[in-house]
Amino acid sequence: MGVMGLSFSSAVATVVIVLGSVLNAAVVCHGGITSSFVRKVEKTIDMPLDSDVFRVPLGYNAPQQVHITQGDHEGRGVIVSWVTVDEPGSNTVLYWSENSKRKNRAEGIMVTYKFYNYTSGYIHHCTIKNLEFNTKYYYVVGIGHTPRKFWFVTPPKVGPDVPYTFGLIGDLGQSYDSNMTLTHYELNPAKGKTVLFVGDLSYADNYPNHDNVRWDTWGRFTERSTAYQPWIWTAGNHEIDFVPEIGEFIPFKPYSHRYHVPYRASDSTAPFWYSIKRASAYIIVLASYSAYGKYTPQYKWLEKELPKVNRSETPWLIVLMHSPWYNSYNYHYMEGETMRVMYEPWFVQYKVDVVFAGHVHAYERSERVSNIAYNVINGICTPVNDQSAPVYITIGDGGNLEGLATNMTEPQPKYSAYREASFGHAIFDIKNRTHAHYSWHRNQDGYAVKADSLWFFNRFWHPEDDSTSTQS
Ligand SMILES: *[C@@H]1O[C@H](CO)[C@@H](O)[C@H](O)[C@H]1NC(C)=O
Ligand SMILES: *[C@@H]1O[C@H](CO)[C@@H](O)[C@H](O)[C@H]1NC(C)=O
Ligand SMILES: *[C@@H]1O[C@H](CO)[C@@H](O)[C@H](O)[C@H]1NC(C)=O
Ligand SMILES: *[C@@H]1O[C@H](CO)[C@@H](O)[C@H](O)[C@H]1NC(C)=O
Ligand SMILES: *[C@@H]1O[C@H](CO)[C@@H](O)[C@H](O)[C@H]1NC(C)=O
Ligand SMILES: [Fe+2]
Repeated sequence: MGVMGLSFSSAVATVVIVLGSVLNAAVVCHGGITSSFVRKVEKTIDMPLDSDVFRVPLGYNAPQQVHITQGDHEGRGVIVSWVTVDEPGSNTVLYWSENSKRKNRAEGIMVTYKFYNYTSGYIHHCTIKNLEFNTKYYYVVGIGHTPRKFWFVTPPKVGPDVPYTFGLIGDLGQSYDSNMTLTHYELNPAKGKTVLFVGDLSYADNYPNHDNVRWDTWGRFTERSTAYQPWIWTAGNHEIDFVPEIGEFIPFKPYSHRYHVPYRASDSTAPFWYSIKRASAYIIVLASYSAYGKYTPQYKWLEKELPKVNRSETPWLIVLMHSPWYNSYNYHYMEGETMRVMYEPWFVQYKVDVVFAGHVHAYERSERVSNIAYNVINGICTPVNDQSAPVYITIGDGGNLEGLATNMTEPQPKYSAYREASFGHAIFDIKNRTHAHYSWHRNQDGYAVKADSLWFFNRFWHPEDDSTSTQS
């Protein structure tokens, strides 16, 4: 961007700051910035099968690929999943709270699947319910053979002022860069308590016949985080695994056998779209690769879902999806457009705070914009500033083997506030009903460095004092 562009943007920024104060705006607009940080572009390669992170735990039939996610709508349930390979073994989870010696057990189920010439291990899923809020629990799986013990902390009871810290990771894969992203997330002093994962998990489908061994290695690689804190799953295109050429006709087969989500708790009829409440946030997960047009199950569900969100109870409304609606990279450009056309008016009407997406392997944050005025005859098809609109954040920069998206549309569109081609993760740190601090962390920096950050003001609660509404 030239000097003219810069001064113009700061003039716009000033105007918007003033306007923002008048409107109690949630986010102050800055001129679009394309980061001057240029990451050394190296080939992104997968960690070899004999890497330390893929090691199989020792012991007969030892549980591996342990992962947890929220197991109900309110945060008192946890789904524990794991894989055994020698024999089915036990479906039981033994668990107890830090404050009590009494051990409880919950019984799960076991599933397997075949994919071309691959046969899965024994995949166990067990939902634990009625846990105490805000409590540390230990749990053991692999009972009868090689027990392994882990722990998790339940979220506080849902309420408007409950602070909570979410991590954001997308398009992770299993390259050396993926390992860096996960390490940076783990060591970030902001200490994310739950990961909102925006889709594209293992990238096993980039291997011949979608070699599902790479689903297993991904499960073992991520266990060091997924066994201890819930990851909230979103389905991406790399979860589809639709390969009719080799007789694989059922979309999402590996993903839906391995990663269970509590979709029934939100009256959803399929695991690809659902919602949960956690602390002061209401999280809606949408499916970019399931039908979303009018009359479809997802459309009907979302239409009934949005009015249910009670902002006095959960002031923060967060949407996760895989394919971004506002993206200015020359990758997957406008792939999210048809879903945007269907749902964007609702997002504006219900004042969604922020939409996180992946898919594009880079980072981008939008202004609060909407583009809902258009109809076929009026020609009004330019995104406009709209303080009722969400901020759109693309965070598909986990670091998978496909590498970084570096080619951007020029000039940077007005709706794009900040963009940078680097790998990283983000933190959405809710302080109370009015304030949340958001930061994006690139992998090349120290763990605490914020490459992009922003205070979110909750527009439902209209804070009296918005003097801090600037980037920090
Ligand atoms: C599956 O088939 C591929 C080639 O078609 C072969 O390389 C691989 O070893 C086979 N895997 C199993 C488990 O049979
Ligand atoms: C992955 O990261 C972890 C934690 O930083 C490290 O111990 C491990 O050696 C790394 N593995 C590879 C293959 O890079
Ligand atoms: C919304 O939540 C608040 C706070 O929990 C509660 O008092 C109120 O009854 C809820 N409203 C509805 C319509 O459920
Ligand atoms: C970037 O993308 C544009 C549009 O697809 C294309 O015309 C151009 O050649 C690309 N540039 C590079 C360096 O790949
Ligand atoms: C909400 O959090 C912000 C940021 O930490 C703080 O400045 C503000 O005083 C808090 N509001 C209340 C009502 O505690
Ligand atoms: Fe994708």
